[in-house]
Amino acid sequence: MAAAGTLQRRPAEPVISESERDDVTDTWGDIARVGVVGCGQMGAGIAEVCARAGLDVKVAETTGEALEFGRTRLFNSLSKAAERGKISEEERDATQARLSFTTDLGEFADRDLVIEAVVENEQVKTEIFQVLDQVVTRRDAILASNTSSIPLVKLAVATSRPDQVIGVHFFNPAPVQKLVELIPALTTSEGTISRAQALVEKILGKHAIRAQDRSGFVVNALLIPYLLSAIRMFESGMASREDIDNGMELGCAHPMGPLKLSDLIGLDTVASVAYSMYEEYKEPLYAAPPLLQRMVDAGRLGRKSGSGFYTYD
Ligand SMILES: NC(=O)c1ccc[n+]([C@@H]2O[C@H](COP(=O)([O-])OP(=O)(O)OC[C@H]3O[C@@H](n4cnc5c(N)ncnc54)[C@H](O)[C@@H]3O)[C@@H](O)[C@H]2O)c1
Repeated sequence: MAAAGTLQRRPAEPVISESERDDVTDTWGDIARVGVVGCGQMGAGIAEVCARAGLDVKVAETTGEALEFGRTRLFNSLSKAAERGKISEEERDATQARLSFTTDLGEFADRDLVIEAVVENEQVKTEIFQVLDQVVTRRDAILASNTSSIPLVKLAVATSRPDQVIGVHFFNPAPVQKLVELIPALTTSEGTISRAQALVEKILGKHAIRAQDRSGFVVNALLIPYLLSAIRMFESGMASREDIDNGMELGCAHPMGPLKLSDLIGLDTVASVAYSMYEEYKEPLYAAPPLLQRMVDAGRLGRKSGSGFYTYD
């Protein structure tokens, strides 16, 4: 595959060397105020990760109702972390105190870093980057996207600072998953990459890998064809949903079968990522099966809507 071949030619070493890491120690230290756009599954998780790391985090949503829903999701997650002993009650309270919420992106003027995590829709994301470009006053602020598949360069050129735009792709649930993919656009400066990597690794404590700006990056380029194959298998009637999931859980030691995982990710997100990847490569393995689109049309989006391949409380 072209993307995999190109990735293999990249140097295997991390984006910044040990000596460069020392040089940027002072640079990431200036990222103290973070904005997160969108407080769905990913935005809430990313905001939690940043606030738990000691950063001041402001979260934006479209409506007061969506904001309240997201805030409840985030605070419940923190309470669960405290109940399970992962953080103390003092840490939970201090983390909550570092979080603020708004429906006005104008309040992001003083942010050092903004991470966009709204629906996987190029037009919606592009408009947000245009607004962020207008409102964020610090010229070297990093404007990052959590997109799973939309070309970063398209978001970068929508701004007057394409060198400051980068993909910072967390995994679900963000407070638990260790990986973050860093995706520089063709326009992204080395300084932005270094600052983003240092922040992800040193402040947030995640493991960063670097991918080229090709739809799906590393993980989804491998994962999405697998999920689509499982949906095709279910659609064809070859096996039940339980047998497909048990097959991969008990036969391959996957912690979650592909249909359960699709429900966790969100079927709208799986479909959107598949469309972007098909658009990019025109490979049949990225084509979304009809059942997936019908389920999205029916509002069966997985866990977040209460039903998908399975039903949820
Ligand atoms: N779900 C996953 O497993 C996963 C994993 C990695 C990355 N991602 C990516 O993260 C992004 C978000 O995915 P998600 O699963 O959190 O989706 P989601 O549907 O749970 O949340 C999206 C949120 O964005 C909000 N939103 C929409 N337009 C907005 C706007 N203009 N301003 C502010 N908020 C707005 C919505 O109200 C919603 O709360 C997508 O780009 C997706 O591809 C998802």
